[in-house]
This record gives sequence, C-alpha cells and structure tokens, in this order.
Amino acid sequence: MFDTLPGFRDFPPEACARRNHLFRVFRNVARAFDFREFDAPILEPLDLYIEKSGPEIAAQLFHFEDKGERSVALRPELTPTLARMVAAQANALPKPIKWYNIGEHFRYERPQKGRGRSFYQFNADLLGEASIGADAELIALLGAIMQTLGLGEKEFAIRLSDRQTWILFLDDIGIDLKQRPSVLDAIDKSGRRKPEQTIESLNLAVPGKGEQIFQKIEEIKQINDLDTLLIKLDSFGIEGQARAKDWQNLMSELTAHQVNPFVKIDLSIVRGLAYYTGFVYEAFEASGEGRALAGGGRYDHLIKKLSGNVDLPATGFAIGDMTLSDCLEKNGLLPSYIMAPDIFVISGQDQRNSGIFLTAKTRKSGFAVSHSLKATGFGKQFKEAGKSGARYALIIGEEEEIQKKVKIKDLKSSGEISVDQTKLIQQLEKIDEEGGINSSE
Ligand code: HAM
Repeated sequence: MFDTLPGFRDFPPEACARRNHLFRVFRNVARAFDFREFDAPILEPLDLYIEKSGPEIAAQLFHFEDKGERSVALRPELTPTLARMVAAQANALPKPIKWYNIGEHFRYERPQKGRGRSFYQFNADLLGEASIGADAELIALLGAIMQTLGLGEKEFAIRLSDRQTWILFLDDIGIDLKQRPSVLDAIDKSGRRKPEQTIESLNLAVPGKGEQIFQKIEEIKQINDLDTLLIKLDSFGIEGQARAKDWQNLMSELTAHQVNPFVKIDLSIVRGLAYYTGFVYEAFEASGEGRALAGGGRYDHLIKKLSGNVDLPATGFAIGDMTLSDCLEKNGLLPSYIMAPDIFVISGQDQRNSGIFLTAKTRKSGFAVSHSLKATGFGKQFKEAGKSGARYALIIGEEEEIQKKVKIKDLKSSGEISVDQTKLIQQLEKIDEEGGINSSE
C-alpha cells in the first residue's frame, strides 16, 4: 500500500466539494470586483524564486534537474510568475491589470495544522496603479471574500501594516540600508520566536545593539491606532508627513468600502517575502489563533527587477485553502454537500433501452441523472434509487412503454404522476418549481 507523501492531501468527492465551495466564492467575488482569471505553469526555472521570493521560501523549494539539465522548481507562490508574465506583455495590456488565479503551490515545510507541502491559493493582484485606491480595492476584495464565506468581525481580522512606515522608524533608530533587510526579517519572525532569539538575530544584523533595538521595536509594535501613528509619522519630516496622508487616505477608502470593521492597524506585520515595498497585511482568525489565512501587500519594484526595463507598480494578496477551511469548519460554515442525483431512472428488463433513452434526454436538459448499469428487477432498482439519494424516480415499465408514458415518483413524499414522454421535461421543471409531487397525487 502506498500513502500520500507527507504534507500532500487526497481529495475524495466530499473534500473536493468543500474545496470547490471556496473556489466558487473566490471566483464570484473576484468577478464582482472585475478581476479576470489567468493561469500559469506550476513548474518554473529555479532562478525565478532564488532571489525574488527571499531566503525563507528559497529554502522550502521542491526543486530538481529536469532531463534537459535545467534547474526547475515547483512554484511555492505565484507572484514571481505573474510578474514575469505581465512584464513580458506590459505594453500590450490595458491598465490597470486586475488578475486572479486559483492554483496549487508547493513548499517543503514541516507539515502541521494549517500547513502542508501542497496547498491551494487564491491570488488577486492589481498592476499598473500606484495609488492608494489599488491597495484599498484589494483589501476590500479580501474582506468581501471572507464575508461571503460567512465570516464576520468576530471571526476574522485583517492586520494592516506598512513597510515604508517601518523604514521611517528604522531610519529614526539608526538602522542603515544594508542592515535593513535582516532587521525587517527579525521583526517578521519576532511574533513566533522567544525574545532571546530575536535579540540574537538583531545582534547579527547590528552588532552589539540587539537588545536596544529589540526594545525600540517592541515599543513600535505596540502602536495600534491611527492617531498615535499619525503623530509619530508627523515627527519624521516631509517623508513621514506624506506617509501619514497615505495612511489617512487608505483608512478613509477602507471605510467607504465598508471593510473598516475588519481592519486593525498592527505593525507586527512586515511579511516574510523580500519583495514588499509598501502597505502589507495578513488576515487571521479574530482570536489570533493559528497561522495566517491570507497575506499580501504592495511590491512596486519586483517587475523591474525581473524584467530589467519594465517598471510597473503592483499590489496583491493570496488566501490559502488550508487555514481558511479549518477556520470555516470551526465556525460551522463549511456546507455539507449532498451529492445526490436529481433523478434515478428505473426500467423493466425489456424497457432498458427506453430507460437509457430517458436518462440521456433528461441529462441533456440539465438534470443530474443516474440509473442502474445492469438489467435487474424493479425491487433492486428501487433500492439503488433510495441509496442514491435521488429526489425523483422515473419509471418505465411495459405499460408505460406501450402508452408512450413515464411515471414520475417523488421519493420523498411518495406521490406520483404519469406523464406523456413528450411532456416529460416540461413536467419535471414544473414539479421542481412547485417543490415536489403531493402525496395524494
Ligand atoms: P504567503 O504569505 O507566503 O504570501 O502565502 C499566502 C497564504 O498562503 C498564507 O497566508 C497561507 O494561508 C497560505 N500558505 C502559505 N504557505 C502555506 C503552506 N505551506 N501550507 C498551507 N498554506 C500555506 C504569498 O504567497 C504571496 N505571493 C502573496 C501575494 C500575492 N503577494 C502579492 N500577491
């Protein structure tokens, strides 16, 4: 017997139906926001991720050499691929570019609750628009998806932060350009680590000053309201004041989008990926439990870095299916799908082909129809129909065949009627509208 590899999942029909419920909501809400679906390969050149995604993801790559001696990797995320695609046709694409994708991703992580080695992401990205309106649009889309899935203020929160704000704070405490990436990385990990570990990383980044920087960072992380943040930014000169305006504009657009109840200012978010340049955010369960449900932000320089010549501002986020499903399940929001046919066709032994004919006809009209795959007696077929969970049985015996009729039986109420075969579809649609056949019929 073979098992799935660690961190990989099978999707039997019920699990697949639950996953498709998420995908349906992703598609419907993305459509409402006028995003277009795109797709891309799951195997990419290894180099695409080595520099662009940052060291954490690079260490988690599933990679190998293909038969043509190319170094390739299964995609751990979609953003570098999207940047490559858009850069290649940047001039031809009308702006802003609003694209989304639902697809499988692979990271060699330690499998644990909410974390697998294969998982699905819904990615939504908006390219070619540098203004705050693009950031607001995406946060609104993230909020709308969560709400459509049934999650409210009590269940989830979007923690909003900003890398530019962090850079202003880091400049203020004397961190230079070279030290910045390691310090940001230490801040990103600080929530999941013991203080000693963070201090150790900070000491590596800025020798001898780890403890002192740690204290300052902890103070900054406490800021969780707009007013305090604006006062701080105001003290950082022109750049700080400009950023304060951006924060104000973003918060007021988010209020107009009506997602503000879900948005919490939380400077502990900096995001682990290397390419983010501006506002960043992660969605979590409101209780703060578990890993992130989603994450994203602005990445204005990635396309230039990848293409060398195309400069396109960009912002986006991804929702993962694993933590989201866990959260929905916990809140009783994962619908249990009854995967039953609408109709089960039952025929006499000599009427088997007429039964198949009716099966084909009703299927073509859009009903989900099942029937016995071998000729058996009525009793066995009725049992099969019961087991299938079908609401209606169509019965064609000798008498019905001679009279060119068919019996429709409501397996819930036991009511039945006999109809002309030519009027079958019409009758089925009528019954469906009326909610079934009365048992006295
Ligand atoms: P990320 O934060 O690495 O961002 O991943 C986004 C979401 O994918 C996470 O919040 C989590 O739900 C899910 N996820 C990530 N890794 C795993 C895993 N090993 N197992 C299960 N779920 C996982 C990105 O990937 C960015 N590329 C998002 C983005 C799009 N930024 C701009 N555009």
